[in-house]
Amino acid sequence: MEINKKPKIFIHSWIPEGLKSKLEKHFSIDQHDASEVVLSGDNLLKRVQNVDGIIAQAPIIDKNILHSCPNLKIVSNVAVGVDNIDIETCTKMGIQVTNTPRVLNDAVADMSMALLLAVARRVPEGDRMVRAGEFKGNPYPLLWGADLRDENLGIIGMGSIGQDVAKRAMPFGLNIKYYNRNRVRKDIESNLNAELLSLKELFQTCRYIVILCPLTTETKHLIKSNELNLMRKDSFLINIARGPIVKESDLIEALENKTIAGCALDVYEFEPHYDLRLSKMDNVVLAPHAGSASVRARTGMVELAAKNIEAFFLRNEVLNPVNNIK
Ligand code: DGY
Repeated sequence: MEINKKPKIFIHSWIPEGLKSKLEKHFSIDQHDASEVVLSGDNLLKRVQNVDGIIAQAPIIDKNILHSCPNLKIVSNVAVGVDNIDIETCTKMGIQVTNTPRVLNDAVADMSMALLLAVARRVPEGDRMVRAGEFKGNPYPLLWGADLRDENLGIIGMGSIGQDVAKRAMPFGLNIKYYNRNRVRKDIESNLNAELLSLKELFQTCRYIVILCPLTTETKHLIKSNELNLMRKDSFLINIARGPIVKESDLIEALENKTIAGCALDVYEFEPHYDLRLSKMDNVVLAPHAGSASVRARTGMVELAAKNIEAFFLRNEVLNPVNNIK
């Protein structure tokens, strides 16, 4: 009897059929299409405990899961953010973690501008009004919104996606300010006409603030009442990064007290749960973690996650390392 030596891979993700068959030539595949239900706890454990690798779209891979998977060698995340994975434990256990940078940049940068424009120009509010049959001609003024030209856009997290947002914002006449752990290269700063500010200066001077930094122990609750109270009364906060970067209860308080003019959220502190008060406010635009949800980006992400698995097992290479296990 021939022993099946194919590495066992659990795919917790939607995956194009052709790509799945391609992987099946080299791997023994079990798949859960995570489009509807994200597996957790025992349901996840049952599927991963004997595997060599996981293609992971959204599941929480914590210490408990990792300690229950003695054969696990790689977690290939279908996302650029890796806050769903306990990286420290992976590194201690010699488990490689990879992610999917760049393939989603255009989609996330486009969506950042879409959310900024939607909240500034009150697009969903107008949509709701027309659908409700409340558009009765052209009363003056009707849904006047905020302008973009000559306003400051503050980008928190000036990595490659932050830079792509800046490139899109420049033709709208927005001045680019940013806050980042490290100053970006001089030539990038000068091409984007971007100015590095302290977090305090950024909150005090920017009319639009877009959050694009990763969620880490340093950025959790980076934005709370303290920071929101520094913001201009006519300013807007857009969070397309990770929910816990903003303390949601403080944000709601700032919106209720009119400390800021509005916000657009693609992500939530306790995702997929969110405070229902948000959905009752007209100056709040809500999206369902759809920043990278374009056909090209989401397909590209799964393809890159699969390439990371192939490179690791078939060629002993790591394409997009998140941790260093050597
Ligand atoms: C990412 O890649 O981090 C996106 O937010 C999808 O989860």
